[in-house]
Amino acid sequence: MADGVAVSVEDVSKRFRLYQDRGTSLKERLVKRGKTRYEDLWALKHISFEVGEGETVGIIGHNGSGKSTLLKSICGVLQPSEGQIVVNGTIAGLLELGAGFQHELSGRDNIYLNGSMLGLSKKEIDDIFDDIVEFAELEKFIDNQVKFYSSGMYVRLGFAVAVNVNPDVLVIDEVLAVGDERFQRKCINRIREFQDQGRTIIFVSHAAAQVRAICDRAVVLDQGKIITVANPGEAIRVFRDSLLAVEDRVNPQQVPNQDDQALPSSTNPARSVRIDQVRVNGSIPGVQPVITTGEPIKIDIDYHATSAVENAAFTFEIYAGDGSTEPVLVVRCASDEEGLVFDLNEGYNTALITLPTWPMTDGSYFLNVGVATRNEGMMFDWKEKAVMFETVYSGRNEGMLSLPYEIVLREQ
Ligand SMILES: Nc1ncnc2c1ncn2[C@@H]1O[C@H](COP(=O)(O)OP(=O)(O)OP(=O)(O)O)[C@@H](O)[C@H]1O
Ligand SMILES: [Mg+2]
Repeated sequence: MADGVAVSVEDVSKRFRLYQDRGTSLKERLVKRGKTRYEDLWALKHISFEVGEGETVGIIGHNGSGKSTLLKSICGVLQPSEGQIVVNGTIAGLLELGAGFQHELSGRDNIYLNGSMLGLSKKEIDDIFDDIVEFAELEKFIDNQVKFYSSGMYVRLGFAVAVNVNPDVLVIDEVLAVGDERFQRKCINRIREFQDQGRTIIFVSHAAAQVRAICDRAVVLDQGKIITVANPGEAIRVFRDSLLAVEDRVNPQQVPNQDDQALPSSTNPARSVRIDQVRVNGSIPGVQPVITTGEPIKIDIDYHATSAVENAAFTFEIYAGDGSTEPVLVVRCASDEEGLVFDLNEGYNTALITLPTWPMTDGSYFLNVGVATRNEGMMFDWKEKAVMFETVYSGRNEGMLSLPYEIVLREQ
């Protein structure tokens, strides 16, 4: 393995064999003898990537895309069917909820059991025992059997063990979403300390904000394959596109006709919210609006919800570019990342996004908008280039941004 590489995943595939129709009664089994039918499910297909020492890599993908299977393979809990994984140094992980715990044993015994499975001696575990219990905030419950723990308590104990054994590589599956917000923040702070110490982290999350905040790069999985390895922003964009593609796979869109346009949601009942039309400052479709630098921007999103939806989030992006060059991202906002989620009523409605002042100077821009469930668990609809607009600038400063400033003299 090359220098500076902490984890190398080389052409890894993982097959699960799903047995069907296994006769349940003796008669059935005799009749079907020797004809057990099975289906192969390739949860991972030819996965290759490397994680550098000290790097934090996110793994994102929709449900069933293979994230947990990949993490388990990296931790050695599962053996790849093909390919190989090399880990440089010690590894500890927080895999699926409750994984690695013996439910009949107490929290205390589980700490010793887990510690020894991670290669620590009794003395070494004695030394970190109090830190683990304190971090997990389980002082009062440490001698209770873990089967009586809540899911939050499991996560706290699992995370506390994983970080206190000080592994070179820390692997965390989704589970962080389980704890309460205060504990999540505590975990994120601990992850940051890990990063400062130059340790390596592999982190699975559905939460775009967490991936953006923590990861250096992200791997996007779709149906067991890597669809991109990129910086977090780009990876999240690709992930969103793949969410739309998944919904279309599940429920292919028909070719729109007049009737569908009158009732757009009828084309795809699986998507319970569909964006019909987007206007910038009251623009008319087909006419490109012109916005003066410093003016407010008001974005109207007309949508149709086929059923009521709770906790929906709106996302918008504004890019600079007219199509002749690579577009440059000006801003991307996902309302749920600012804590703004909405309960949408069934029927036709409009969401209004207001930007009090538009700071960009002359040029062509375009707007993408989307509506999703919180944390982008599911993207209902995404309109790329929903509106293109021009900006005119009458000020004098050069560059992309109009930046108000003042100068005062402070004479001696
Ligand atoms: N032990 C197993 N036996 C059979 N199939 C499995 C097993 N574990 C996972 N799978 C299948 O492999 C695929 C990938 O599952 P995996 O749990 O890795 O997905 P995931 O991306 O972690 O999903 P989620 O977001 O729901 O956690 C799924 O189709 C799943 O049903
Ligand atoms: Mg999973």
